[in-house]
Amino acid sequence: MTVADWMEACLADPEHGYYMTRDPFGRRGDFITSPEISQMFGELLGLWSAVVWQQMGQPDQIHLIELGPGRGTLMSDALRAAGGVPAFIEAVHVHMVETSPVLRERQQNALRNIGVSIDWHDAIETIPKGPSIVLANEFLDALPVRQLIRHGGAWCERMVGLSDDRFSFEVGAPVEEGGVPDNLTDAPDGSIFEVSPAVRDVTRDLASRLVDDGGAALLIDYGHDRSGLGETLQALEGHEYADPLSSPGECDLTAHVDFAAAATHAEKAGARAWGPIEQGDLLERLGIGARAAQLLQGADTKQAEQIGTARHRLTGAAAMGRLFRALALTDPGRAAPPGFETVSPF
Ligand SMILES: C[S@@+](CC[C@H](N)C(=O)[O-])C[C@H]1O[C@@H](n2cnc3c(N)ncnc32)[C@H](O)[C@@H]1O
Repeated sequence: MTVADWMEACLADPEHGYYMTRDPFGRRGDFITSPEISQMFGELLGLWSAVVWQQMGQPDQIHLIELGPGRGTLMSDALRAAGGVPAFIEAVHVHMVETSPVLRERQQNALRNIGVSIDWHDAIETIPKGPSIVLANEFLDALPVRQLIRHGGAWCERMVGLSDDRFSFEVGAPVEEGGVPDNLTDAPDGSIFEVSPAVRDVTRDLASRLVDDGGAALLIDYGHDRSGLGETLQALEGHEYADPLSSPGECDLTAHVDFAAAATHAEKAGARAWGPIEQGDLLERLGIGARAAQLLQGADTKQAEQIGTARHRLTGAAAMGRLFRALALTDPGRAAPPGFETVSPF
């Protein structure tokens, strides 16, 4: 099977897929994400959403959409913080796009008493039309990537095969049109290029939605600004790197997001792409310093240490501040969304 089919099966197989069978977050799980590190992350994204809604002229109804909402922590923190703008909360209808039944249940528990209408969806397409604000943290990296490998002077599909009861990578048939950028077509044999049709489809669908009905999306993930060669498919099990082929369905599989490709697909669909900018810069511009200072006022020594550590993990250059990036998409007439004022459209 192709690497993309392997990733899809490992993560999303209805019976055995990694996300379908467990809650993978936290210290006892396999990894931890920004909203699980600190409430500040979701709060700032909630305020980002409320300000975007104001920039849009405060429509009476707004779809607040989250893609891949994990435990529901981000949305819960976002709505609590956005409660400071009551008219926004009155206008909001929340849509959670989640395929995992286990995580849907976690999200329903987290949002039980939140006081806004919420619907769950398997995919973006079933969300009703209308102005939208979309949040996605570590969603795109969970979507399958194809790997193309240069072999005998041609780009070939990289496959996963089974022999002697072991999975291994193999070279498949040459590909006609793999989406390899012109400047990389002559790479040396053995080079790998990753391309994600699933990320392309999601960014195109989001872009069309924003162009048709107005709004903005904030996509945060780890990834690179420019398309390039290299293999980023990785597996995490118990917070340690693992072999992506060794325990299918038992470890998290991700690939770095090619933000240049995502931005290009969104722009081709008529939207405007802003950034990507570093997560650290985004959170500082949105006011993480002020929020941390406010939380510190009521904190004891242990809590104060936790707040400082969390802020550093989210924004520090050697932590998540630089590796994680934020790409914003808007309908073409819109001003720069909060945090992106100093960047030119992509
Ligand atoms: C790495 S987790 C991120 C969770 C959350 N955003 C956070 O930051 O904690 C990926 C999330 O995307 C969901 N997911 C993965 N593939 C999906 C798909 N194709 N459609 C909808 N949700 C998906 C997973 O079930 C999980 O909730």
